[in-house]
Amino acid sequence: MLPHERPARLAGSEAGILAFPDQRSISRAAEARLAEAVGLAASIGLTIVHSAAFPLRTRRPSTLIGEGQVEAAKLEIEEHQVGVVVVDAALTPVQQRNLERAWGCKVIDRTGLILEIFGERARTREGTLQVELAHLEYQRTRLVRSWTHLERQRGGFGFLGGPGESQIEIDRRLIGDRIVKLKKELEQVRRTRGLHRSARTRVPFPVVALVGYTNAGKSTLFNALTGAEVYAQDQLFATLDPTMRAIKLPSGRTVILSDTVGFISDLPTQLIEAFRATLEEVAAADIILHVRDVAHPDSASQRSDVLEVLDEMATGEDPTLDENWMGRTIEVLNKADLLGGVAGIPGTDASAIAVSALTGEGLDALKAALDERLAAGMETVEYAVPPADGARIAWLYQHGEVLSRQDGDDSIQLTVRLAPADRARFEQN
Ligand code: GTP
Repeated sequence: MLPHERPARLAGSEAGILAFPDQRSISRAAEARLAEAVGLAASIGLTIVHSAAFPLRTRRPSTLIGEGQVEAAKLEIEEHQVGVVVVDAALTPVQQRNLERAWGCKVIDRTGLILEIFGERARTREGTLQVELAHLEYQRTRLVRSWTHLERQRGGFGFLGGPGESQIEIDRRLIGDRIVKLKKELEQVRRTRGLHRSARTRVPFPVVALVGYTNAGKSTLFNALTGAEVYAQDQLFATLDPTMRAIKLPSGRTVILSDTVGFISDLPTQLIEAFRATLEEVAAADIILHVRDVAHPDSASQRSDVLEVLDEMATGEDPTLDENWMGRTIEVLNKADLLGGVAGIPGTDASAIAVSALTGEGLDALKAALDERLAAGMETVEYAVPPADGARIAWLYQHGEVLSRQDGDDSIQLTVRLAPADRARFEQN
């Protein structure tokens, strides 16, 4: 295995245990934070057999947590036969190594875990490159015989002799070379992006993207809206991308629901770029559903975090989101059941709908709101299409409401009512 390759996926590992040693932030309830970490670990296929929070009194340079805590955790690790420990904090390479030795199993920290998630979810070329870059930069600091390194030594480079400093230096150089190459490639991809266009035209129906904090209930909502049955339209792409599914709205209109990677609290700064790259799907969305956990103690600050990131995507140096994103956003105030049902949620209007993805309450209102939003901006447009262009004519019938038609020899004049997004789609092709 070459140093620039990602370490073996952890999915399917028999067990994961979560330590939670970080209690610096007072605003965040420890339990919510632990639940988030469990959710994150589960999302890469780890089976969580145990999770525990450890108060962090002082930060020990050698192991982060105290000696007694290392020992206590070791007992639990042995009892539950844990194969991977996820520590929900940033570990230095030395801490990671020491904990692995003390516990006799793999240890990954918060950054490592998040990188795994991004790696699985990056879809665009830019996203994939960005995640690989973050991974390499992370790995480069970790070449102090961390497990990634140990695994590599077992596998390859036999001709270079045994493990030792020279091996580490070679790895570091190879990683450095790869980073330079990736950066160049990223530059190239950015220059030729045209992302907006390609992503929008890739799917033949309006796209509704789900964004929000991890654990807000995006997947639950996604499943509740799509239902168990696989819709015929799904066959177009469901096999390629399980995070996209077609649904029919009450009006009969088909839309594509697209799930995105969840926002993560205290995202390590070196991962921000990579995260944004995984969010690019949002740029192609006709409607953005901002799914919120209204029962979460930090619900309000989570909301502003999400808005801030989206705003940054629209106004930053290298914008990937158009300025109108706010106008295309509907807030979904999820987990209403925990606050006494939909009726108990204040502040709902056309742009904020209370639901419970779990009980299904409010989902009809949400679908109706999607319909309304898509129809709201319907425009009446006239097109002259060559008679030979049957596919384009059929497309207009399928996606819009054809108000009048005049067949001429050279062209067919059509007056059509179209949603702005469909109009853009039609005119871009
Ligand atoms: P990531 O995939 O990690 O980004 O999370 P997510 O936003 O997709 O959240 P997910 O759907 O996995 O839900 C997280 C937890 O919240 C699960 O335990 C769900 O059962 C729970 N949950 C989701 N929706 C509701 C809801 O409406 N009410 C209640 N009480 N719990 C919910």
